[in-house]
Amino acid sequence: MKIKGVIEVSIFFVETHTHLDLIKRNTEEVVKEAAEKRVTKMVTIGIDLESSKIALEFASRFAGVYAAIGFHPHEAKLLDAENLKELEKLAKKDKVVAIGETGLDYYWKHSTLPCQMEAFKKQINLARKLNLPLIIHDREAHQDTLKVLVEEAKGLKILLHCFSGDLDMAKVCIERGYYLGIGGVVTFNNAVKLRVVVKEVSLENLVLETDSPYLAPHPFRGKPNEPKYIPFIAERIAQLKGISVKEVAERTSVNSKEIFGI
Ligand code: NI
Repeated sequence: MKIKGVIEVSIFFVETHTHLDLIKRNTEEVVKEAAEKRVTKMVTIGIDLESSKIALEFASRFAGVYAAIGFHPHEAKLLDAENLKELEKLAKKDKVVAIGETGLDYYWKHSTLPCQMEAFKKQINLARKLNLPLIIHDREAHQDTLKVLVEEAKGLKILLHCFSGDLDMAKVCIERGYYLGIGGVVTFNNAVKLRVVVKEVSLENLVLETDSPYLAPHPFRGKPNEPKYIPFIAERIAQLKGISVKEVAERTSVNSKEIFGI
């Protein structure tokens, strides 16, 4: 498969983490251009009630788009009882495939830590109640994230989006059956730690993501990211593992199906 040339039509990629509502271009174009690169399925992620509603709107408009709904740790302070009820209502709609992104962010701390912790646990409970997988945001909060998940989220399907831990943490996650989301960072020159993880961890535990509009892969680093760049991430993973892009596409698509049923 050639990234810049003709892409085999027999393969397809699943983009597990985009924020379509935050991409400042016509969404129809974004979805169409992604499909042209064989990124035919994607999960668009909510960060609060409003963006979760938009995610659902996109999911109902576009066949290959699915929604994850939740409150990002930055917005944890907004998840009161009323919003939680609203979130539960939304979560029962068609094409909602996960709760998230939720988790802990000890870097920005836009919400207080107790507040983040509470919102995280509430959303884990919601995922359990509705039997949905969880998409986890963990920034500089590895210990606490792993602790909460082992205590509160046993038996649930877990995807650690934009995985940023080291190989030791990855091994713990794999042992627990979690999936790791790998994005554009893997193409960055300084991402030595992540490349070790990708090399060592079985493809059975990895899925592809862009986190667009953030974290565009090389050679687009610093520019707005989009789901259509997924093949660049797949190509880097293939190089690191010494396998074909096709293999990466196929296995990560199977994994995405295991998590989200799509
Ligand atoms: Ni995100």
